[in-house]
Amino acid sequence: MSLPIGVLASGRGSNLEAIIRAREAGELPVELKVVISDKREARALRIAAEHGIPAEFLDPRAFPDRVSYDLALAARLKEAGVELVVLAGFMRILSPAFLEQFPLRVINIHPALLPAFPGLEAQRQAWEYGVKISGCTVHFVDVGVDTGPIIAQAAVTVEDGDTPETLAERILEQEHRLLPEAIRWIAQGRVRVQGRRVYVEK
Ligand code: GAR
Repeated sequence: MSLPIGVLASGRGSNLEAIIRAREAGELPVELKVVISDKREARALRIAAEHGIPAEFLDPRAFPDRVSYDLALAARLKEAGVELVVLAGFMRILSPAFLEQFPLRVINIHPALLPAFPGLEAQRQAWEYGVKISGCTVHFVDVGVDTGPIIAQAAVTVEDGDTPETLAERILEQEHRLLPEAIRWIAQGRVRVQGRRVYVEK
C-alpha cells in the first residue's frame, strides 16, 4: 500500500528531489500524484516533469483572492487523489478554507527549530540572532504561520565561521533526510496526534 501524496513547491525543489530519491530507492511507500507550483519558473516543476510526475503551475494572478486560489489548489489535489499534502518550499500561507479539506494531512518543512524563527529567511534570522544551535522542523500545518504540531526536528550546530548561506546549506542537508523520514512514518501509519503532541510508533 502506498500513500498518494502531492507536493507544493515554489522554487529550487531540492526537498522534492530528496523525496523522489527516497521513493526511487524504495525507501518511501508513496505515490507522487502531482507537483503544483505557484511560480511558473520553479525548478521544482522541471524536476517533477523529468521524473514523469505530473507538474502543474497554478497562477495566483488568475484568481481574485487567496481563498479562491486555495480552493482551486485543494480541488486539484483532491482530483489527483492526494491524501497527504507536502509543502516543500511552498512560499504561501494556506488559508483555513484549504486546511479544512485536509485536516492533519498537510505537512511543512521549515529551516529552523520551531517555535524559534518562524516565517521567511529562518536561517538568516537564526544566524543574526546569534544562536549556537539551529536546524529544521517538519510539522503539521495549522492556521498559524509555522505553528502546527511538530513531527520531527534535527539540530545543526552554528559554527563561528558560518554565514547565513553556509548555515542554510548544512540545514538543507538535514532537511533532505528529515522530510522523507517524516513522510515515511505517516505513510506507514505510525503517526498519532494528540493536541500539540505527535507520537511516532517505533
Ligand atoms: C527549504 O530550505 C525549506 O525549508 C524552506 O525553503 C527552502 C526550499 O528549498 N521553506 C521555508 O522557508 C518555508 N517557510 P527547496 O525548494 O530546495 O526544497
